[in-house]
Amino acid sequence: MKQPVTFLKGGQFIRFAMGLWVLLLLASPVHADLTGPAIVEQHCAACHASGVANAPRIGVTDDWAELLAMRDLETIVDNAYDGLGRMPARGFCTACDRNDIAQAVDAMLPEELAGPDL
Ligand code: HEC
Repeated sequence: MKQPVTFLKGGQFIRFAMGLWVLLLLASPVHADLTGPAIVEQHCAACHASGVANAPRIGVTDDWAELLAMRDLETIVDNAYDGLGRMPARGFCTACDRNDIAQAVDAMLPEELAGPDL
């Protein structure tokens, strides 16, 4: 008597699905492991690449020189962390801690203005 050919049946399918789920979990990025440039790409570039609503543009000396003339880098990082005007707190990166935000700001600064490590 022939067995019907099935792809995966019963418990096999469950195990297959669980395995897939674990693989997906392992493959998804963990926020704490993101470096500054990766945070910028994922959470900040949407506004800071083109300068939406006057956001200082990534790597644009004029934009950052203007800010640094008004306040120091620590305060600028605080503002990014706490939010300021139309800058949302942490750029909506809820998993980012202050150090992550400092790394992201550092990655947005033009090279000639890059400050000491925060
Ligand atoms: C929804 C758009 C948006 C996103 C997303 C966003 N920003 Fe901003 N950001 C702004 C705007 C608009 C300003 C200008 C705020 C102002 O001066 O009123 C700003 C200002 C800033 C400033 C200058 C603060 C100061 O002291 O003037 C820093 C630093 C900054 N953002 C960092 C970040 C970082 C880091 C991220 C990602 C984690 C991020 N932003 C994500 C819109 C955004």
